Amino acid sequence: MESFEKVAILAARKAGMLLRRRLGQKRQIRYKGAVNLVTEMDLLAEKVIVSEIRRRYPGHSLLAEEKTDLRGDSPYRWLIDPLDGTTNYAHGFPVFSVSIALEKEGKVILGVVYDPTRDELFVAKKGKGARLNGQKIHVSSTPKLSGCLLATGFPYDVRESAADNFDHFRNFALRAHAVRRAGSAALDLCYVAAGRFDGFWEMRLGPWDMAAGSLMVREAGGQITDFLGNPVDLDGRHVLASNGKIHPEMMKVLKMGRF
Ligand code: IPD
Ligand code: CA
Ligand code: CA
Repeated sequence: MESFEKVAILAARKAGMLLRRRLGQKRQIRYKGAVNLVTEMDLLAEKVIVSEIRRRYPGHSLLAEEKTDLRGDSPYRWLIDPLDGTTNYAHGFPVFSVSIALEKEGKVILGVVYDPTRDELFVAKKGKGARLNGQKIHVSSTPKLSGCLLATGFPYDVRESAADNFDHFRNFALRAHAVRRAGSAALDLCYVAAGRFDGFWEMRLGPWDMAAGSLMVREAGGQITDFLGNPVDLDGRHVLASNGKIHPEMMKVLKMGRF
């Protein structure tokens, strides 16, 4: 039987390549909220991934962002974001990824994130480290917030909620080296794992956004918690990831704002 890892990689690459091939074509866009959109490619990529996994593991549970929620008795559950960075994709801005994680008894044991634009494949296995295109990766060693490159994103209810992240954005922009908002949370987490970002925070993410990336950060030697330093809960929706060294400083800054 093929390993879980091989199947996740095959599915992520297949969906990712399809997304890359069709980037720049005219999109069919539907709005799930004022600024939350979904394209026909989110649905197609999900279909490709789900069918690759279901074909091999029909008894596994599976939760994918757009429409798949299959619950079985199996201890295994797949968490899938078929296209992380939909807004970018819809505009032809080439920063997006495919994120696939596998949980066993509620714990993420495998994370695969594929960036088809750069052909970068991030793979994390519980207890076995994190790799980028086969090479081991590690978080950065930047010791102080003032020297850090950080990443974040804004929630889709940004127009309605008072906890809109602008206060945190400002607080960090004034204290860190710089802050980026690239538009794919799964990739942001992988970049923390690879030491490209020193830290990342975001509010109201879904479990499919964070599952693979959370294992990536942990396996690369980083720290991932909620804003108060508690172990990250994939359904908890707030996430703070860092190289570990700046975690206390980031928590302090987050406490100054709303969440
Ligand atoms: C979004 C991206 C974005 C983040 C949003 C997510 P989607 O996922 O990860 O970076 O800021 O909160 O919902 O909708 O493109 O899959
Ligand atoms: Ca997402
Ligand atoms: Ca998505």
